Amino acid sequence: MSVNGRIIEKTDDIMQKQFLYIEKIKEIIAEKTAIDKKQSTYDLRVYGCQMNEHDAEKLAGMLEEMGYVKAGEGEPADIVIFETCCVRENAEEKIYGHLGSLKPPTGKSKSIIAITGCMMQQPHVVEKIRKSYTHVDIVFGTHNLHTFPELLYKRLTTGKRVFDIWDAEGDTVEGLPAARADRVKAWVNIVLGCSNFCSYCIVPYVRGRERSRRKEDIISEVEKLAELGYKEITLLGQNVNSYGNDLGMKDGFASLLYALNDINGIERIRFMTSHPKDLSDSLITAMKELPLLCEHLHLPFQSGSTRILKEMNRKYTKEQYLGLIDKVRAAVPDIAFTTDIIVGFPGETEEDFMHTLDVVEKVRFDQAFTFLYSIRTGTRAATLENQVPEDVKKERFGRLLELQNAITNEINLKYEGKSVEVLVEGKSRQNSEMYTGRTRQHKLVNFSCDSDLTGQLVNVEIIKAWPFWLEGKVAK
Ligand code: SAH
Ligand code: SF4
Ligand code: F3S
Repeated sequence: MSVNGRIIEKTDDIMQKQFLYIEKIKEIIAEKTAIDKKQSTYDLRVYGCQMNEHDAEKLAGMLEEMGYVKAGEGEPADIVIFETCCVRENAEEKIYGHLGSLKPPTGKSKSIIAITGCMMQQPHVVEKIRKSYTHVDIVFGTHNLHTFPELLYKRLTTGKRVFDIWDAEGDTVEGLPAARADRVKAWVNIVLGCSNFCSYCIVPYVRGRERSRRKEDIISEVEKLAELGYKEITLLGQNVNSYGNDLGMKDGFASLLYALNDINGIERIRFMTSHPKDLSDSLITAMKELPLLCEHLHLPFQSGSTRILKEMNRKYTKEQYLGLIDKVRAAVPDIAFTTDIIVGFPGETEEDFMHTLDVVEKVRFDQAFTFLYSIRTGTRAATLENQVPEDVKKERFGRLLELQNAITNEINLKYEGKSVEVLVEGKSRQNSEMYTGRTRQHKLVNFSCDSDLTGQLVNVEIIKAWPFWLEGKVAK
């Protein structure tokens, strides 16, 4: 196949070529280390969703292969990479702010600055970087993350700025090294891109069409993770429920789950994100039958108004969504639901919004991620004229938050005095005296314990429920 006029070889050959660049950079870095008497360092700044977090792990993997080490907290690095997000306007503004603050005073030597991620798939952003952010050295996009070694080599050997953005997705590339941020939990991509075109959303434009990875590649990645001692995997995709459709598989996602459930060493399997329109009966059966699948489902509903859902191109009604929730609850009674909600989509009336509140009350989500609608140039909703005034959006947002916080609190309070199974992830970041982990329902638990049980499943007795976490002690 060809992308932007380039011939794409077999995926293995693609990475083979990049490994040659990694070797060449390794020599340059080793020489520099010998002269400077200090190791070269990198700083990765990640914005946006788990897709970006995981892409950043791949960039870190390539950098560490080259001989770079992670810079200490707050220390200047030899190379700074921005992994960007453009799902809402405030995400972009924050990134421009941080990028601007790295402009060096004239005459001062500086770090190499690279920028990649979803924002770079928008031509107007790349133009702005080219003209107004001349201290940025390397610009690349989401479709050619794997060519980073080649681009860095060009920058190091020519000293010139390097821009390389592909406007179409290529094959799914296998074999990228990843420096995973965690030792217990790992992310595994199963579907890249999205073909749903919800009318408010920029993701299909910046991540390309939906492409599933081969089942055997996913299984072998998870087997390797199990060998390395990982206990929990989270399967990632904008819409994991449609896994395999593009490969002509039937019930692809459920069959993948059955295969992964048999891998020795893995204790828990999670997945996100699910789309209500594709949540099949076979998946619900898998959730009921498979012991490794956790009792947690992240199922965004976006709006409770069937009229608005139609405008959003979501392809389900309020009643269908509520029906799905009932079906899943009947199969998996102790399931925890989380969701995403958008407030103030163009044309949203008070009555539409009341339907959103109604869904929140009926379902009683454990947690909801709530967003103010943000206009994204290039999407269909951006051209709609009846945009909701900012003050109306904010007022509704406040009411929604108040309702959801009260529900989250009530659900959490019920845990007090109970014992829950926690997969220990390590020391708590908030309180170094405590350990941290999550329940199968994805509740964050910080707890006291005499010994380090990282990587193990332990029973924790919940002493107190806080708004966003539970406090406990190891059950004797
Ligand atoms: N693929 C996932 C999530 C993608 S983005 C899904 O389909 O659910 C994460 C969330 O950002 C979305 O669920 C949506 O709630 C929110 N979002 C996306 N575009 C937005 C926009 N233009 N304004 C406000 N929120 C948006
Ligand atoms: Fe965006 Fe919709 Fe795709 Fe999710 S399913 S990434 S909201 S277009
Ligand atoms: Fe943002 Fe891209 Fe994820 S736009 S939400 S980082 S897919």
